[in-house]
Amino acid sequence: MAKYRIAILPGDGIGRDVIEAAKIVLEATKLDAQYFYGDIGWEFWRREGNPLPDRTLKLLRDTDVCLLGAVTSKPPEDAEQELNPELKGKGYKYYSPIVRIRQEFNLHTNIRPCKSYKGNPLNYRDGIDLVIFRENTEGLYSGVEFYPLPSELKEWLVKNHPKMRRFEHTPQDEIALSMRIVTKKACEKILTQAFEYAKKRGYRTVTVIDKPNILRETGGLMLREARRISKNYPGIQLLERNIDAMCMWLMKNPLDYSILVAENLFGDIISDLCAQLVGGLGFSPSGNIGDDYALFEPTHGSAPKYAGQYKANPIAMILSVKMMLEYLGEESIAENVEKAVAEVIAEGTVRTYDMGGCNSTLEMAGAIAAKVSKYM
Ligand code: NAI
Ligand code: MG
Repeated sequence: MAKYRIAILPGDGIGRDVIEAAKIVLEATKLDAQYFYGDIGWEFWRREGNPLPDRTLKLLRDTDVCLLGAVTSKPPEDAEQELNPELKGKGYKYYSPIVRIRQEFNLHTNIRPCKSYKGNPLNYRDGIDLVIFRENTEGLYSGVEFYPLPSELKEWLVKNHPKMRRFEHTPQDEIALSMRIVTKKACEKILTQAFEYAKKRGYRTVTVIDKPNILRETGGLMLREARRISKNYPGIQLLERNIDAMCMWLMKNPLDYSILVAENLFGDIISDLCAQLVGGLGFSPSGNIGDDYALFEPTHGSAPKYAGQYKANPIAMILSVKMMLEYLGEESIAENVEKAVAEVIAEGTVRTYDMGGCNSTLEMAGAIAAKVSKYM
């Protein structure tokens, strides 16, 4: 029996292309693993009315770890329209399969490293080394939303919250409500992970990003927890930044920051910004980590306009494989994969379209795999 059981969910669009690339690199590592492919994404929504079939959930439960390409999500009207005609009007509701996996497996910590590799023509600056810790299960993405606003809820809010009074006469079907739910436990978890990571790898600051001056209750809770937990790490300085200002500071002085911690939505925003600082979504891997399961995926989506063209840069996916290897405890193989990526970027002879080159997804993967094989 193989040492590891790895689930592979290619998903939609370029997700499929970059998964194929990741597999080429994995083969080169000679990792003692068995791979199991599963169904996820828009195609399964259209065909079956479920973007995450139960068989896929079972597959994940039977494996140690998962690699995901990307999935396509669309607004509710498009979802209904594209559904298989036999399933229309039967009450099927689209939901984000990734958010569902994160919640189902309690993958509370989303880690997104953004590093500017030497020689990448797309680096905003050299020497950037940021790692985002994004809370992954709650915040504004909790999924607790209302439209139209139920009358009991509206009445209760108007009665109990002075700020709600000005909406008293707004008709129910003219108000939508999304709840930003923040719990002490989740704050504690994400912050502890961030500080532990900083300690283990010798980073000297952790920056907590929120907006506690306006979002006083939810942001306030996050900030209080950050201050409390930071006391356990005397060698690491806690920096506190508002989300809006932080976007500006990251553009101005990206080298001043290292480990960043944020709630779900703010973490999502900061991730794309940081990805762009180091060459764009093609360079930004991520890990969704829980207490006993983890899923690794590039930060980017399915980029439908490039689907099936083998144009997408697979480096984000390949660096996600590297993160998976670290998670599995295969540190030296992980290092080899990163070294291979760094060398291919530095040499500059193989480049995908986003880097100004004309090599394909699989040519990039092949170049990286060739170096990995040499080190093994
Ligand atoms: P996207 O990340 O798919 O693409 C935005 C643009 O970034 C692309 O058009 C392309 O120019 C560039 N890009 C992305 N990945 C690249 C790569 N590997 N190499 C080179 N260039 C790359 O974001 P978009 O267009 O907003 O979303 C498309 C679909 O993906 C939507 O349905 C969205 O819901 C979904 N999505 C899925 C995610 C996931 O699976 N985790 C995350 C983000 C979006
Ligand atoms: Mg995002």
